Amino acid sequence: MNYIGLMSGTSVDGIDAALISVSADDRLTLVTTHAIPFPAGIRNKIYSLMLGGGGEIERLGQLDMALGELFADAANAVMRQAGMEKKNIRAIGCHGQTLRHRPRADHPFTLQIGNPSVIAERTGVTTVADFRARDIAVHGEGAPLVPVLHRKLFHSPKVNRVIINIGGIANITYLPADGDKPVSGFDTGPGNTLLDLWVRHHNARDRDEAGQWAASGKFSKTLLERLLTDPYFQVAPPKSTGREHFNLAWLTEHLEKIQPKPSAADVQATLVRLTVQTIAEAVRRFLPQTRETYVCGGGTHNRELMSALKVHFSRMPTATTEALGLHPDWVEAVAFAWLAHLTLEGRPGNLPSVTGAQRAVILGGIYKA
Ligand SMILES: Nc1ncnc2c1ncn2[C@@H]1O[C@H](COP(=O)(O)OP(=O)(O)O)[C@@H](O)[C@H]1O
Ligand SMILES: [Mg+2]
Repeated sequence: MNYIGLMSGTSVDGIDAALISVSADDRLTLVTTHAIPFPAGIRNKIYSLMLGGGGEIERLGQLDMALGELFADAANAVMRQAGMEKKNIRAIGCHGQTLRHRPRADHPFTLQIGNPSVIAERTGVTTVADFRARDIAVHGEGAPLVPVLHRKLFHSPKVNRVIINIGGIANITYLPADGDKPVSGFDTGPGNTLLDLWVRHHNARDRDEAGQWAASGKFSKTLLERLLTDPYFQVAPPKSTGREHFNLAWLTEHLEKIQPKPSAADVQATLVRLTVQTIAEAVRRFLPQTRETYVCGGGTHNRELMSALKVHFSRMPTATTEALGLHPDWVEAVAFAWLAHLTLEGRPGNLPSVTGAQRAVILGGIYKA
């Protein structure tokens, strides 16, 4: 059975598509992958809806449909690339694009768009979507959902491992060697999101290529200490967060309160430290039994981030998930292909020990081809 996973994360860089095959005994193989960057117009519409304001419902409705078309394009492209037809694919698992994640609101909710009816229609493949809402309905955080895949592919019976995913937001999964102990996982805070926002703000580029700009700056201890006072970092897991909390307004508010003002490059260098230090501190405080760490997500391409991370974890091996057989760029898309499989098989996809949900539930809505 083959599945396609579609992922577009908080970084808003584009859509990752992964086509996997699952054997009768549940063995998973990655067949092929394809990425499509968001056109600038779409990206700006997503950014603007994340902030909210005027004519929101109309813009939301239209963007939902437009993104459905793009997700379908990504799925069709990865099928073509694999030389497969729609009849060979059992389902697509589409994460969608998060616009809002509010697990602590009076009525907790999370909102991912990218219309699944459009995806099913344009691809001719059954589509599973809206995975997170069901976990929220049983009082979970709705996130992270990738740990179920981390456990499947990356668990070792010999050593306690942590998987660190550095997307827009960074999240970690703890995989105790003892399979009877619960897997845990949570968002540690910002991953690339502030780095991207700051570079866009100053240099009108989408990202700090390989972390070169950050490397040209010197980190500001005053700013770092101030950013670290954010209460999110002290909250005990389970917890999850998003760009509604960590954004440019959050950063500039802190910047306004410190003297002397660091240069723009110094701020970028400090943001690298913030990501790395909050990840390392979360592991130290909440998962002290960790003996190995593996990193995935777009942050693995940022050399500054990776070398700072290796310094923080100098007492244990730190590699990318490539060392465990899966390239760091495709872990999340593969996870949503796997989650589609679980849903169609009638198996739960959330781990209550991770999300804090009352029970394990079958995730997502199924849109039949
Ligand atoms: N070559 C690179 N140099 C620096 N940063 C990169 C590079 N490639 C990817 N990134 C970072 O990774 C982010 C995308 O990571 P990704 O894992 O796709 O996150 P998300 O799941 O939030 O979309 C980009 O926005 C960028 O910050
Ligand atoms: Mg991405």
